[in-house]
Amino acid sequence: MRVVIFLTVAFAIVFAATSASDGVLSLNPESSVAETMYDLGLPKPSHFRENLSAEEIERGRQLVWMGTTSNPPQGKTSRPISRFFTCVTCHNTVREDPILTEVNSEARLSYAMEKRIPYLQGSTFWGIVNRTSWYNDDYVLKYGELVDKAKNSLEESTQLCALVCSQGRTLEQWELDAIIAYYWSLEMNLGDLGLDDPEKLAQLAALPDTSSLAQIQALFMPKSPATFSHPPTDKDAGYGLVGDASRGQGIYELGCQHCHRQGGGSDVILDDFRSTFRWLERNITADSPLSIYEIVRHGTYSEAGHRPYMPHYTQEKLSDQQLEDLRAFVEQRSKGK
Ligand code: HEC
Ligand code: HEC
Repeated sequence: MRVVIFLTVAFAIVFAATSASDGVLSLNPESSVAETMYDLGLPKPSHFRENLSAEEIERGRQLVWMGTTSNPPQGKTSRPISRFFTCVTCHNTVREDPILTEVNSEARLSYAMEKRIPYLQGSTFWGIVNRTSWYNDDYVLKYGELVDKAKNSLEESTQLCALVCSQGRTLEQWELDAIIAYYWSLEMNLGDLGLDDPEKLAQLAALPDTSSLAQIQALFMPKSPATFSHPPTDKDAGYGLVGDASRGQGIYELGCQHCHRQGGGSDVILDDFRSTFRWLERNITADSPLSIYEIVRHGTYSEAGHRPYMPHYTQEKLSDQQLEDLRAFVEQRSKGK
């Protein structure tokens, strides 16, 4: 008897959940993408949170931006996550791609240059709660088993990065919760996906749930693809592409100088003196880890607790064309132009 009642109740709940939105969903540009998708039947992920307090979000923001918080929960103390970095050394917290449906490095760089957004190795935390996998593709090659757990969990990915990428430590539960809360404050809304026309939204809402869900899913990539690549075999010839120095300047200022400045993630300062460009220029074609081809494609080694390291740029974060743009800029400046 008990079992029958239980099943009936369970069935009623499932039925209510799946049919809740049919026909009654009201959508507007401010609607949360995540909430809308869950209403349409997408299962909630483990990082789903609701009723987050402003205090916890602010705590997460401080952890991400400063590595500690001035307001830990009662009875807890806050100690730095990493000796070398904060999360924003390598990750943005704003939108960084004008096009969300595909990787488009050129559009991304133009957008960064127009808005002066750092041009970094890590993916932005903006919209990270809307992704369904993390540390994708070639990161599996680099981190192997470590990524198995992280790939399908935003919590595990955050832990992996706090410990390994940022050469720090595993987060305590309250720190992890606060960072997840902060991520939620950076979620996407329907307007961000280009769904801002009331008529379009009404049409979308009128479709069967599975169709509306599929349409929304098609408007953004559910993950950040990652392709590792290599320096050209002949550094003189480079990748055989013509660089654009003005775009190279954008990469230098928004990418390299984000860390290679006073107070950035590295003690090595890449300033605007001609001598600095000459040093970089001399090494471009050298068989040296200091060649921009080597450093951008392979980064430097990370050893937990030791010197800070430089993460490499994947093809998606800095394309071969953009590496040639950077080279063109360095060569131009080293000639004093
Ligand atoms: C030294 C650079 C660096 C620092 C510091 C850093 N990260 Fe990362 N992080 C990366 C790189 C590189 C990746 C892999 C590429 C990517 O983000 O798509 C990554 C990936 C991630 C991912 C998975 C992203 C995705 O969409 O695949 C999360 C989550 C993350 N980091 C959280 C954090 C948090 C939280 C902090 C601060 C505690 C932090 N990271 C600090 C470099 C860094
Ligand atoms: C996320 C931070 C970060 C970004 C962005 C970054 N670097 Fe680095 N880079 C480092 C760190 C950290 C090191 C290791 C050296 C140190 O500080 O101890 C390093 C090392 C280097 C070195 C070797 C320096 C030496 O004397 O050993 C070069 C050259 C270099 N980076 C060039 C670049 C260029 C060019 C760019 C832009 C395409 C760039 N870096 C972007 C953090 C960064």
